[in-house]
Amino acid sequence: MDDSATDFNILKRHVEQLLKIQCSNYKEDYIKRRFLSRMRSTNSATYADYLRYLKAHPAENESLRNALTINVTEFFRDKEVWDEVKNVILPALFQQKKRITIWCAGSSTGEEPYTLAILLYEATVNHKDRSGIITATDIDEVVLAKAKAGVFEEKAIQKLPVSQVQRHFTKRPDGLYEVKPHLKELLRFRPHDLMSGVPPVRYVDLLTCRNVTIYFTEKQKDDLARLFHSALVTDGYYIMGKTEYLGRQVEDLFIAKNSAQKVFMKREKPPQAKLL
Ligand SMILES: C[S@@+](CC[C@H](N)C(=O)[O-])C[C@H]1O[C@@H](n2cnc3c(N)ncnc32)[C@H](O)[C@@H]1O
Repeated sequence: MDDSATDFNILKRHVEQLLKIQCSNYKEDYIKRRFLSRMRSTNSATYADYLRYLKAHPAENESLRNALTINVTEFFRDKEVWDEVKNVILPALFQQKKRITIWCAGSSTGEEPYTLAILLYEATVNHKDRSGIITATDIDEVVLAKAKAGVFEEKAIQKLPVSQVQRHFTKRPDGLYEVKPHLKELLRFRPHDLMSGVPPVRYVDLLTCRNVTIYFTEKQKDDLARLFHSALVTDGYYIMGKTEYLGRQVEDLFIAKNSAQKVFMKREKPPQAKLL
C-alpha cells in the first residue's frame, strides 16, 4: 500500500470516530471525492495535510460532514411526484383507512417532510375523521435539528404559492419563515442510519426515500429495498428519487405504479420463479 492509500485509510478512520459516519458504507470513490473537495477548500495538498488541518480546525468538522452527507433539498422538489401524492396516493390511502403512517427517510433540512406535511394537512383539514403522522429521519443530526426547528430563509419558500406560504408559515421579525404548529404537529424527527438494517417505524403506508441512495453500492441499495419492504404495509407506497432505480434482485418486491415518478407499491408475495 502506498503512502497516499495509508493516509487515506488513517483519515477515514479518524473521520469515522469523529463524525460517527461509517465511511465503509459508501463507495470508496465517493468518499475520496468528498475528501478531495474539502482538501481543495482548505488548501491541503495531501490526505495527511487535511488530517492535520481537521485536527487543528474544529469548525471544519461541520463542513466535512455536510460534504459527506450532501444535504441539498427543496420544497416540492420534482413537482409532478407531489401532484401524484396529492391526487392519487393520499386519496387512495384514505379510502382504505382513517389514519396513515408516513416515513420520510433521508429528510435532510426538512423541506421534503414539510412538503408531505402540507399535503397531509390539506388532505385531512376538512375531514375530521382522517389523520396521519410523518416520521422524518436522517443520519445527520445537524440537519435534523434544523428540520425540527422548521425555520427557513425566504429563498427556500419562494416557489410556493403565496396562499400556501400564508397558510403554513409565519414571517418572523428577523425575516425568516417559521412553519406553523399545525404542520409541526404532524411530524416527528428522529436520527436514523438507513444502513442500520432496522426501520425506525413499521406499518408504513407511504415511504419516501429520495436522492439518498445515489452513492450507495448495489448491495446496500438492495438491502435498503428489503428493509423498506419489511417496514411497509401490504399495498403501501414507496417513492424513490427520479434518478434512482430498483435493482434486479429486489424489483419483484414492488409493483411500479407510476414509473416516471418512481412510485412503487409493496407486493406482499413476490411472483414464484417460473419452472423451466
Ligand atoms: C440529497 S439529501 C435528500 C433530501 C431529500 N430527500 C430530497 O430529496 O430533497 C440526502 C440526505 O440523505 C442523508 N443520508 C445520507 N446517508 C444516509 C444514511 N446512511 N442514513 C440516513 N440518511 C442518510 C443525508 O444526510 C442527506 O440529508
